[in-house]
Amino acid sequence: MKTDEKISVQPEDTRESVTFGSDRNKDFSKEPLCLSGKGVTRVFHTGKTTTVAVDHVNFEFHKGELISIVGESGSGKTTLSKILLGLLEPTEGEIFFKGQPRDISTGAKKKEYWKGIQAIFQDPFSSYNVFHKIDAVLLDCINMRGGKNLPKEKKIEMMTEACSFVNLKFAELTNKYPFELSGGQMQRLMIARIFLLKPDILLADEPTSMIDACSRATILDMLLNLRNETGMTVIFITHDIGLAYYISDSVYIMEHGKFVESGRPDEVMLTPKAPYTKRLISDVPKIHEPWDLSTVEIK
Ligand SMILES: Nc1ncnc2c1ncn2[C@@H]1O[C@H](COP(=O)(O)OP(=O)(O)OP(=O)(O)O)[C@@H](O)[C@H]1O
Ligand SMILES: [Mg+2]
Repeated sequence: MKTDEKISVQPEDTRESVTFGSDRNKDFSKEPLCLSGKGVTRVFHTGKTTTVAVDHVNFEFHKGELISIVGESGSGKTTLSKILLGLLEPTEGEIFFKGQPRDISTGAKKKEYWKGIQAIFQDPFSSYNVFHKIDAVLLDCINMRGGKNLPKEKKIEMMTEACSFVNLKFAELTNKYPFELSGGQMQRLMIARIFLLKPDILLADEPTSMIDACSRATILDMLLNLRNETGMTVIFITHDIGLAYYISDSVYIMEHGKFVESGRPDEVMLTPKAPYTKRLISDVPKIHEPWDLSTVEIK
């Protein structure tokens, strides 16, 4: 099957409205390594129960690549995200940042690492300090990027630009608190933060799962624009294999903490090898197929 042909796996509601800027034929394996891991494992012990949440995973994410990690609830996606972000230590294995062993052994080194990797989480409400007004949230980003001593007008110009990138009006937001925004607006504000921070890597853990379908398409569109504009690596965590097919350069399928399959979306989705991948694909609603009502009994 040719890559531009439609296949039956569909993201639930985003197809028509999202513009996919990625060059699907680009070979990212030739780009420099951004984040990679060998044998990365995380075991949790709670009482008498031992859970291997992430089980010896290997991965290579390249500069500018959009990677989706797909798996069902409990497969280990968030645990791996936390490890990648340096919020949780792996119990085994090693992470490499730009080809070098990652060193986040001190607070200062962690801070430096976080200039390179930032995240957007599922629940936008949990991502903000409730006592900080929106301009303080954005100012923090400018300061983190070394802009502390810039003139006030320049800072306002940068914040206005970041807000307009995500279709928010800075002038209307200055005196508001994040909780005064809708879920979709909050996620857009998160993207405005990333626009200012310009990290090498953006990790987005189910960033659209708590917002309505319309905002979901907008958020995805903005994330993809941001990637195209800045060349950042995006790691997109999702349970939606159809969406992953449409937006990614590489897909990693995660089951019970392991990567059971990975590769370019066409390879993984059109010729799936692992039974788990086949099942995920067969579970996606085929919304473009006509409904077969012939078997429905009319009483
Ligand atoms: N702090 C913890 N202590 C003990 N077990 C944990 C902890 N965090 C996660 N787990 C377990 O690790 C496994 C993977 O959880 P994780 O949150 O990474 O899954 P997930 O793929 O992100 O799921 P979802 O799609 O529901 O967000 C689960 O069995 C979970 O119960
Ligand atoms: Mg999760």
